[in-house]
Amino acid sequence: MVIKSVTFAGAVARPGGPVPDRLPCIAFTGRSNVGKSSLINTVLGRTRNRVARVSVTPGRTQEINFFRVVARGRKQEHQFHLVDLPGYGYARVPAAMRERWAPLIEWFLARPEVCGVVQLIDSRHGPTKDDFANIERLARIGVPVIIALTKADKLRANERREAVGRWSPVLGVDPDQVVLFSSHTGEGREELLAGLDALLTEASAT
Ligand code: GTP
Ligand code: MG
Repeated sequence: MVIKSVTFAGAVARPGGPVPDRLPCIAFTGRSNVGKSSLINTVLGRTRNRVARVSVTPGRTQEINFFRVVARGRKQEHQFHLVDLPGYGYARVPAAMRERWAPLIEWFLARPEVCGVVQLIDSRHGPTKDDFANIERLARIGVPVIIALTKADKLRANERREAVGRWSPVLGVDPDQVVLFSSHTGEGREELLAGLDALLTEASAT
């Protein structure tokens, strides 16, 4: 899939907030500091002119951010919202902020226009307790999931070869659903874009 254009389409900070016009949505979830904003910029090809803010202080993205994307897929053109959800599980975020997180995410992920979720997991450490809880939440909602194992450039060569085979059984997903990714090298970008193309094509057929 080739990205043709990206524009910021708005942000929502509380459940029930006004969502920019209805388009199929692909949401990105993961614990704070896992590399989500970096991955989004890399996937969108916006590493020079960033769309998602890469944080110096973890836990800064506290709202749902929408990016309207036009892309050319293998079979058809797609117009969709790429949705950056707030990261979870960062201990230093004030409790009040953490409590706001779950209702916001649960509300959004249950919306009918969500046609897929990219769940980010740190390739070095594997899933945390919060990651497992979120994967369970996604399974409960019944939304298709792609797992992106982030910061692959920090793995040794043998760890890189083994990462997908190592973590997919732990996560309880098919190895085909898992992409090894690095924002620093661009590894996994094409594979992830092909996965998004498949999710969007599937959604447009139903
Ligand atoms: P929050 O919005 O705070 O929840 O964080 P985030 O998940 O959006 O992570 P972000 O992209 O802001 O990156 C967090 C830190 O990890 C930054 O210091 C990045 O430079 C670093 N980082 C992100 N992606 C990669 C990667 O692929 N490789 C390496 N080595 N570092 C990365
Ligand atoms: Mg971020």
